[in-house]
Amino acid sequence: MGRKKLPRFADNEKALNVVQPGKPLYESIKGKWSSDFFKNEKPIVLELGCGRGEYTVGLAKHFPHKNFIGIDIKGSRIWKGSQVAIQENLENVGFLRTYIQNIHEFFAPDEVSEIWITFPDPRPRESDERRRMTHPRFLQMYQQLIKPEGIIHLKTDNRPLFDYTLEVLKGLNTKDLEYTFDLYGSSLNEAHLGIKTTYEAKFTALGYDINYLKFRFKSSSETSS
Ligand SMILES: C[S@@+](CC[C@H](N)C(=O)[O-])C[C@H]1O[C@@H](n2cnc3c(N)ncnc32)[C@H](O)[C@@H]1O
Repeated sequence: MGRKKLPRFADNEKALNVVQPGKPLYESIKGKWSSDFFKNEKPIVLELGCGRGEYTVGLAKHFPHKNFIGIDIKGSRIWKGSQVAIQENLENVGFLRTYIQNIHEFFAPDEVSEIWITFPDPRPRESDERRRMTHPRFLQMYQQLIKPEGIIHLKTDNRPLFDYTLEVLKGLNTKDLEYTFDLYGSSLNEAHLGIKTTYEAKFTALGYDINYLKFRFKSSSETSS
């Protein structure tokens, strides 16, 4: 284990904005983020695979009327976002340490208003397809948690993963799809507020275009009509 990890893990243990194994809320938080964690009824926005949490923290500063939860399995990355949120007194930020595969154990149906998937691992091997964050099994799980009309966003430098996701979406009941293969050359960028994740900064500096899409799921009444 790296020298920095142990003190970071100790900070995460103490940090009130981190929910992780061993803490009481970890076992009981499903359906109770508003009442037991944020203690208000503001809409909840998730960042999946948040890494150091730049998007979670950046959006939280811009949108104090919403609550933001960054989710990642790596405690030493979450630590960074957690510490920044503490230093900046951001009470609308939380971090959850878990595998995305398990998020249905932490969020009840309709508990979430919006989801950001920021630079997920591309998992290019065909044998890893089921591990891609936009595989149908993941998207169907997100559909269970997100409120009707909730928006799901994806940002990635990885064109094959982006193309794969567009294909997957064709097979699902989605609506209001908007996308670009060059976010910074697109009017869709205006809504991004200049916030860059670690990976986004790295890949834009290398000259990669950033792919972006957003969509909603159709409601059951829309799919039956
Ligand atoms: C390529 S990094 C991107 C991090 C950040 N979103 C960014 O743009 O800088 C992917 C992140 O997803 C996390 N991750 C990958 N698979 C995961 C999974 N199944 N569950 C939870 N986190 C996962 C990794 O730990 C890593 O922090």
